[in-house]
Amino acid sequence: QAAAAEVQMFSVPSYACQRRTTLENHNAVLTDALSLLAENAELSDQEGRGVAFRRAAAVLKALPGPVTGLTQLRGLPCLGEHSLRVIKDILENGASDEVESTRQSEHFKALKVLTGIFGVGPKTAERWIREGIHSLIQLRESGHTLNRAQQAGLLHYDDLNRPVTRAEADAITEVVVRAVVAVAPGAEVTLTGGFRRGKLTGHDVDFLITHPEEGREEGLMSKVVSWLRSQGFLLYEKTTRNSYLESTEGPARPASNMDRFERCLTIFKLDEDQRPGSEETKLWRAVRVDLVVSPISQFAFALLGWTGSKLFERELRRWAGHEKAMSLSSHALYDNNQSRYHRATSEEEIFAHLGLEFVPPSERNA
Ligand code: GTP
Ligand code: MN
Ligand code: MN
Repeated sequence: QAAAAEVQMFSVPSYACQRRTTLENHNAVLTDALSLLAENAELSDQEGRGVAFRRAAAVLKALPGPVTGLTQLRGLPCLGEHSLRVIKDILENGASDEVESTRQSEHFKALKVLTGIFGVGPKTAERWIREGIHSLIQLRESGHTLNRAQQAGLLHYDDLNRPVTRAEADAITEVVVRAVVAVAPGAEVTLTGGFRRGKLTGHDVDFLITHPEEGREEGLMSKVVSWLRSQGFLLYEKTTRNSYLESTEGPARPASNMDRFERCLTIFKLDEDQRPGSEETKLWRAVRVDLVVSPISQFAFALLGWTGSKLFERELRRWAGHEKAMSLSSHALYDNNQSRYHRATSEEEIFAHLGLEFVPPSERNA
């Protein structure tokens, strides 16, 4: 009984946006396992299952210490039967058969390899796998016509699958700042995404660009991209109107400002210092960079929306909708009860409107 009393019980709130999740993770073995199952579900068109595993992993990431027994998890949110079974197997046997067989499965490995190509999503990968294509060599030999993004993705495959370091992110920041200063003095560049949350590596580098005078951000993206192109910094670029999660017309997306909010997916050519004694002759590497331009009136929403993590963002929108009858996007916050938009000039104000305690970027690593 004395021993039982010493078992540390955990307690966390239900929504990831109510919690502080730093990069310090005391349960990495468990969260890696659940994340792998989440990834497999997402790659197999099972979004609901994917989210369930992501939420379960996020709960474990938020715990102040390692889980040693299932009893510690009693009463915790988001831990479904399936996730608990995986946790139990790992705690008791050191591994989960389901996780290990998924990891080893030819289908999962092929999905990983093919979706590792920039421009290739799960649907395309699945179609190719059904044709017997499991590797890059098989894809090259298949004679499939690839679009421009996929061609660039295949060409720079190794570079784009090598993590981007903080030093490389800083070097790219310098270039982006130079570009913005050259074409629009007064415009401002903010590093967003994982690096703003304090991550030491990332799969890309994300930037948000705005101008303190409303309207002056118009046309900025094409000027910045032209400058970067003319200076030889771009291996690939595609500018799109922002459509992700806001593709359905709705109150959270003020139509008037739509076309001023642009996104450009690029591949940068970044000069690399030659490692001493290295035989390599390539003096640069390819890096994925996302550029987003936002009008200053929407900047706080864009900053919050592009800082992540993806699960944290999803949970913020779920909280807004389910608990507050509001709809949140990276453009605006609409209050369905009051039938009006809430203004905000900082992330702090948005959290306040949502009735949430402010969570700084470094604690949004859910
Ligand atoms: P790594 O790049 O792997 O280090 O992680 P990350 O957290 O930076 O992820 P990513 O670059 O994919 O996305 C950064 C943030 O931007 C996340 O919060 C995403 O939800 C968000 N995001 C990504 N694409 C879009 C989009 O098209 N529209 C909006 N509004 N947000 C997006
Ligand atoms: Mn990123
Ligand atoms: Mn990105």
